[in-house]
Amino acid sequence: MTDASLPAVRLQAVRLDRGRRAILSGLDLLVPGGSITAVLGPSGSGKSTLLSALTGELVPTSGCVELFGTPVPRNARALLTMRKSLGVLLQGNGLLTDLTVAENVALPLRTHTRLPEPVLQALVRMKLHAVGLLAAADAWPRELSGGMARRVALARALALDPPLMLYDEPLTGLDPIASGVITALIQRLNRSLGLTSIIVSHHVRETLPICDQVVVIANGRIVFAGVPAALESTSDPLLRQFLDGQPDGPIAFDAQVRTRDAA
Ligand SMILES: Nc1ncnc2c1ncn2[C@@H]1O[C@H](COP(=O)(O)OP(=O)(O)OP(=O)(O)O)[C@@H](O)[C@H]1O
Ligand SMILES: [Mg+2]
Repeated sequence: MTDASLPAVRLQAVRLDRGRRAILSGLDLLVPGGSITAVLGPSGSGKSTLLSALTGELVPTSGCVELFGTPVPRNARALLTMRKSLGVLLQGNGLLTDLTVAENVALPLRTHTRLPEPVLQALVRMKLHAVGLLAAADAWPRELSGGMARRVALARALALDPPLMLYDEPLTGLDPIASGVITALIQRLNRSLGLTSIIVSHHVRETLPICDQVVVIANGRIVFAGVPAALESTSDPLLRQFLDGQPDGPIAFDAQVRTRDAA
């Protein structure tokens, strides 16, 4: 169990570069344990980059990233251990096409544990039940709809009971009904399993209703952090441009401009 009084994620003065380019800088962020936080922002603003700093894939150029009070380690072995406490649903589902649904979910358990086969099978069934897909255990990924495949990927991300779930664009490519199923599931799992969830998305309308905290990134930095209602009622021109989907405004879509701002 993790200490519920510790923030799940804390970023202090973090700067993230790709090559010699600053993608995000001056990042200060606190994600309370048990909460759902949405990270919103236009395409290319650095949402996935932010997640890669949490998984340890990208080492910050400066500043500190902590998960449950512990800095994200740089040493490969320590990083591997830390990653077991992270459930990650990547952009795209990443299901292996030559494994059944059940075997896809079993994969992290086979890789990271030495559980006896009957225990492992029982855990796989529990995870599939949690996403409402027990009946599809023996199906192949090609037989699934986009929404079902996303739920299987979700079950696999949950396999090791991680206290922190990171979702990168969980609604992309789904119709409104399938999107509703996924958001409801994320919310239900967060509550029933006592997780902390971070959802990266540009689907503002679908994501806001289920989150406790919203962070908006644009122009290389955090431009808003607060409750969904405060974002909805904002009159800030930059935030309004993003919320209302206007092509012209203070959000710079040119990478050169963003680099200069972030430096
Ligand atoms: N591995 C990489 N190497 C170099 N540059 C990268 C790499 N990954 C991302 N970038 C750059 O970093 C910036 C932010 O990319 P990122 O993928 O984090 O954006 P995003 O907000 O997740 O966008 P989207 O909504 O399209 O997924 C982009 O300009 C991108 O070109
Ligand atoms: Mg992305």
